[in-house]
Amino acid sequence: MRRRRSGLSTRAIHGDVGPRTVAQPVAAPIYQSSTFVSPFGPTDEVLYTRYGNNPNQRRLASRLAHLEGAQAAIFLASGMGATALAHLAVLQPGDHLLSSEWIYGGTRRLFAEEFARLGIETSFVNPDRQRQWRIKLRKNTRAIFVETPTNPVMRVLDLGWLGALAKAEGVALLVDSTFASPINFRPLEHGADIVIHSVTKYLNGHSDVIAGAVAASAAFVEEIRSRMKVWGQALDPHCAWLIERGLKTLAVRVARHNETGLRVASWLETQPKVRRVHYPGLPSHPDHALAARTLNGFGGMVGVELAGGPRAARRCLKALRLITHAPSLGGVESLVSEPRFTSHAGLTPQQRAAAGIPDGFLRFSLGLEDADDLIADLARGLAAA
Ligand SMILES: Cc1ncc(COP(=O)(O)O)c(C=O)c1O
Repeated sequence: MRRRRSGLSTRAIHGDVGPRTVAQPVAAPIYQSSTFVSPFGPTDEVLYTRYGNNPNQRRLASRLAHLEGAQAAIFLASGMGATALAHLAVLQPGDHLLSSEWIYGGTRRLFAEEFARLGIETSFVNPDRQRQWRIKLRKNTRAIFVETPTNPVMRVLDLGWLGALAKAEGVALLVDSTFASPINFRPLEHGADIVIHSVTKYLNGHSDVIAGAVAASAAFVEEIRSRMKVWGQALDPHCAWLIERGLKTLAVRVARHNETGLRVASWLETQPKVRRVHYPGLPSHPDHALAARTLNGFGGMVGVELAGGPRAARRCLKALRLITHAPSLGGVESLVSEPRFTSHAGLTPQQRAAAGIPDGFLRFSLGLEDADDLIADLARGLAAA
């Protein structure tokens, strides 16, 4: 009989369900050890936490591989660490990277400044101009990188088309899927080769850990591991344990984020002081049809432009009591930030405008509080705006 595939909640809680032994702890212990006893003489694998083979790191990796439908996964000490090493496992000096223009500001800096210093050139493409992907491809292009849904305007990209292009050209398609989490979208099922996460966000979900992850083929994950051994981005075992705890509730958390996101975004759109709401669950969003077809849920991230511009945004922020003014996203508590001062601070005002982020743009990460309380807080903010 063919083995039945478990659902996403079960995979998030158990990973691979194996045989149980009496007195085995139900919650995994923390192996807070940098090193492990080795046999004398040569060994297949030296166990050392910097090598990513501590039991807590391994449990997590197998959990994410199950969730993304990947052969393997690896966790690193930050989302940026994951993005950097995933690319460095594909790209060499002299190679060319084709990147979406709609990406996290830190990632843009990594490509434009750090990779440039290593002799890896990046061209940025506005994904709205689909032909540009093909036009900007070069003989030495080795990888395509996109984020979907995008930060902070929540554009949703058609990976089917991009995946087919990458395959035809023999280049790797890397996708930062942080905003979706595997509950709402699994890029490998849509033609991506490599999935990257800032685990700091939804996967951990409690705003108490910085971490990243990559899910891909076993061979590719080994490429990353061998680089991680010397570049040194291994995850601390206690962090890994906290993330495993967070992962167990990923599916129910994301279902609630989806519900609250749609409800609050729909309410915001009816408010006279709001010029525009960016949420893929709304029919007014440019990618609504694609999002409805490809995502399991629209998520908890909502972008808002106020009619009164940056000054109204500042007044609104000052009046909020429940929603905390802080960078980052994906946690149980609602946060708000102005991308021009946080995630996109490294961009010029022109670059931000080209990415659809005018000054005064507010990015909300809706948490797990009662939606009525979030709406009451937003009503307070808008009254002051
Ligand atoms: C989409 C996205 N990718 C990557 C990162 C970097 O993650 P980390 O802060 O865990 O290094 C962020 C951080 O905000 C992000 O929003």
